[in-house]
Amino acid sequence: MAVQRGGFSTRMGFILAAAGSAVGLGNIWKFPFEVGQGGGAAFVVLYLTCCFVLCFPVLVAEIAIGRKTRRNAVGAFKALGYHKWAFIGYLGLTSGVLILSFYNVVAAWALGYFVEMVTGNFGIGKMFGDFTADYISVGLYSILFMGGTAFVVSRGVSGGIERAAKILMPTLFIMVLCLIIYAMTLPNAVEGLKFYLVPDFSQITGQVVYSALGQAFFSLSLGMGALITYGSYVNREDNIVSSASLITLTDVGVAVLAGFMIFPFVFSQGIETDGGAGLIFITLPGVFESLGSTLGVVIGGLFFLLLSFAAFTSTISLLEVPTSYMVDEHKIERSKATWIVALIIFAVGIPSLLSNGAVEALGKFASLPGTGTLDFMTFVGLIANDLFLPLGGFLIAVFTIYVWKKENFNEELTHGDSHLKGSWLQSYVNFALSYICPLLLGLIFLVTVLDSFF
Ligand code: PFF
Repeated sequence: MAVQRGGFSTRMGFILAAAGSAVGLGNIWKFPFEVGQGGGAAFVVLYLTCCFVLCFPVLVAEIAIGRKTRRNAVGAFKALGYHKWAFIGYLGLTSGVLILSFYNVVAAWALGYFVEMVTGNFGIGKMFGDFTADYISVGLYSILFMGGTAFVVSRGVSGGIERAAKILMPTLFIMVLCLIIYAMTLPNAVEGLKFYLVPDFSQITGQVVYSALGQAFFSLSLGMGALITYGSYVNREDNIVSSASLITLTDVGVAVLAGFMIFPFVFSQGIETDGGAGLIFITLPGVFESLGSTLGVVIGGLFFLLLSFAAFTSTISLLEVPTSYMVDEHKIERSKATWIVALIIFAVGIPSLLSNGAVEALGKFASLPGTGTLDFMTFVGLIANDLFLPLGGFLIAVFTIYVWKKENFNEELTHGDSHLKGSWLQSYVNFALSYICPLLLGLIFLVTVLDSFF
């Protein structure tokens, strides 16, 4: 029996929801600190190249698989008749569960920081360690965040996911623009922009290339079937390639814009740019404090609200992947499926929640030859983001071209897009999926394994 799966009501709704999935902590939290550590503009150039050259074709392939089969990440492979290849979907589900389990914790920090900012507690930046160790507060914020996510997902594709994206994405964009305009008025803003925009290619090392590749892939939510799932709700007549272009442009655009606000902030206080993960949670509150109490509350509050919104549209897509699997494959009613899955993922995330200061053993969870001692959360991130996503992307590219076959893929791709037939863009997507993506994604996977575990 066909289950009621729902679908996006408009093409714009799909683009906003998929862009919402892509735009997340990766753009606003991770991108600037990767730029800071990767030497500035040179990293930005590499990142942009990776998004268009490597990620765009995989994005197109995922949407095509989803739209063709109208099934979740696992069911899609079965619907095409390749039951054995459904393991790619199971790998994706596992990645989704693992990523959401810790992503929700970082999202909870963002939400908690929003509350701290609007109550004028800028000192929180200096007490980041104490904040993350306070598992009761972080636990409550995590429950709120996961609960909100489940609420939206339980309401279905058009009534929940699409509606949320239509409100959150434009708001997010306006918030980014307001913050950039303000950041430009700060002393030393130009120095910040120089660091960000003038590339020094001598900074490019193998490590920087590798980080840019990984960051681009994570940022576009690829390799775990999120876009197969969203693609399965797309109207058959919608143009895949142009939708994928808009999603990529929005994601890249927001990442680039995030730099325009962060670096002037950071340089206005003469702070080092290579602060790593702490750049946002440790450094920025100090910057907001320097603005004075009223302005600090407004700008600081706005910033962490923005971060929470960005995270929220991503957690929605992360939760939709296993939910859609439960609905399609196990015929469980959506709302029930959503809450069950959310509860399980919350439970899986508890060790991550406790690994940032609350439980010492979880703070020193793994000791790997290549990375040294890792806390539980970082370890899960390594496995899911750095290993499983590139592996998933590699498998999706190989599957699309060599198993499902080029002809079938192209038939789906050109349906609803007569201009694409025989164009250079179509040839490029085919070429990239046949050679560039398997090669580069396979390489990222291998380098991560060799670097971390040996
Ligand atoms: N793209 C999101 C970000 O940049 O924060 C993270 C993400 C969301 C990864 C959804 C994977 C995914 F399926």
